[in-house]
Amino acid sequence: MSSPASASGPDLTQGIGIDDLPPQGMLLGQVGDEAVLLVRRRERFFALGATCTHYGGPLAEGIADDDTVRCPWHHACFGLETGEAVRAPALSPLPCWAVEQRDGKVFVRDQKPAAGAKTLPASTAPQKIVIVGGGAAGFAAAERLRREGFEGSLVMLSNDDSPPVDRPNLSKDYLAGNAPEDWLPLRPESFYAEHGIELRLSAHVARIDVASREVMLDDGSRVPYERLLLATGAEPVRLALPGMELPHVHTLRTLRDCRAIIARAATSRRAVVLGASFVGLEVAASLRARGLEVHVVAPDKRPMERILGPQLGDFVRGLHEEHGVVFHLENTPVSIDERRVQLKSGATLDADLVVAGVGVRPRTALAESAGLALDRGVIVDACLETSVPGVFAAGDIARWPDRHSGEPIRVEHWVVAERQGQTAALNMLGRREIFDAVPFFWSQHYDVPIHYVGHAAAWDELAIDGDIAARDCAVRYKRNGRVLAVATIDRDVESLTAELQMERAAASA
Ligand SMILES: Cc1cc2nc3c(=O)[nH]c(=O)nc-3n(C[C@H](O)[C@H](O)[C@H](O)COP(=O)(O)OP(=O)(O)OC[C@H]3O[C@@H](n4cnc5c(N)ncnc54)[C@H](O)[C@@H]3O)c2cc1C
Ligand code: FES
Repeated sequence: MSSPASASGPDLTQGIGIDDLPPQGMLLGQVGDEAVLLVRRRERFFALGATCTHYGGPLAEGIADDDTVRCPWHHACFGLETGEAVRAPALSPLPCWAVEQRDGKVFVRDQKPAAGAKTLPASTAPQKIVIVGGGAAGFAAAERLRREGFEGSLVMLSNDDSPPVDRPNLSKDYLAGNAPEDWLPLRPESFYAEHGIELRLSAHVARIDVASREVMLDDGSRVPYERLLLATGAEPVRLALPGMELPHVHTLRTLRDCRAIIARAATSRRAVVLGASFVGLEVAASLRARGLEVHVVAPDKRPMERILGPQLGDFVRGLHEEHGVVFHLENTPVSIDERRVQLKSGATLDADLVVAGVGVRPRTALAESAGLALDRGVIVDACLETSVPGVFAAGDIARWPDRHSGEPIRVEHWVVAERQGQTAALNMLGRREIFDAVPFFWSQHYDVPIHYVGHAAAWDELAIDGDIAARDCAVRYKRNGRVLAVATIDRDVESLTAELQMERAAASA
């Protein structure tokens, strides 16, 4: 990954020759101490902050389309006119500057005032919205509802004991000890009261009565709703093994889980990670960063082969081996005791800490008991509404009609969950927005980020462009000659362009 934008390049207040910027070009410059991006779309010019409000990605290294600029790191989209963070994972807007064209030059003028809150036509908006879930989808929905000017009652119920956090960080920098805990909250605690969001933590929803439109908590209290968003996410699969209940055996989903792993790691010498999934391998890397000896046990022939294919699977394995991780592949654990993990092969591995990252199961019990239509997840329509009118679902539980693949799919990706929360928010306000974002995820292994756009459950051709070993490649997963997904290393513009092409192809299909 490249470095965040810093103020460099020409002083944009002094004017840039219009013809010095191609009709679809971008230029990084400065206004005072601020890095500012000048974007040209044919005859129109826009000036925006050059630093992504998610993790500080350099927007000048991304791409612009007719309406947005897209971040190279995790594909956030910002409106060119207003700087609004229209698509997650960024949630805060970019500053914008006025632009003037004169005498064949374009000048960046004063910074524009921040856009005020939008207003909703009072007659169409519901008065009571309840969100079950304080994760990616639930938070993004609540934030978007207020951003859109929703002024009614907004209750967010979460059985987590912490406010919404940046969950991907729990297996990466925070677990590795490279990020302080105050990086994790998606917003400071004061945000919820300031925005009239009644966030109730440790609140377990036991039942939904869709006839009376009420949510029932396990303490017996009831919360009425006019629109309901179910965003209950997924829970880690727990293997049915002797020893899984021992105190040094962990799964990782919440901040509490992560703190417990960190505490145990502090007194451990050897860790065994069960599963060579994204989360499992990110945990392995983070525990190596903490100086533990790490063994990974998984039934697969190669890590992540089912999703990334054999070549990238071998690369990921080699990368972890270079960092000292020991793999025990085509093998499974049969039991765990206080000191060891016994494997099916007969081998035993010493372990002071065991982390199981063997996949997740969507939390659909509430939806099921409420009578919502299910199919390995909660079935939603293109606007993310479930089979019960007024009840929406988003994130890891939702199976939606994906426009790109033409199939109903369910994925477990942070950006998808947030974007679905945002679309569900608009639709709970009475809009009929189709969820048309192309799935995107990223995964970080040491200093190598892997980006993936699209969805390829199976493919009949895998085309590699570039050199995987040199960490400069694009891998295309195709079926019947059509590109279903693209995985890239260090080709951020190619990944963004592939996403845009898939969006356009799906829109015109
Ligand atoms: C460690 C880790 C690292 C990850 N890294 C990445 C990554 O790098 N890239 C990526 O794309 N994805 C990543 N993911 C996946 C990503 O975090 C999920 O896809 C995303 O969080 C799903 O969002 P969600 O809102 O559907 O569910 P969640 O974020 O899990 O939120 C679900 C919420 O529902 C609440 N809840 C559930 N049941 C109830 C109930 N009955 N009553 C009240 N509240 C309830 C939970 O407490 C929680 O607050 C990672 C996941 C983990 C665990
Ligand atoms: S840094 Fe821009 S999307 Fe993450």
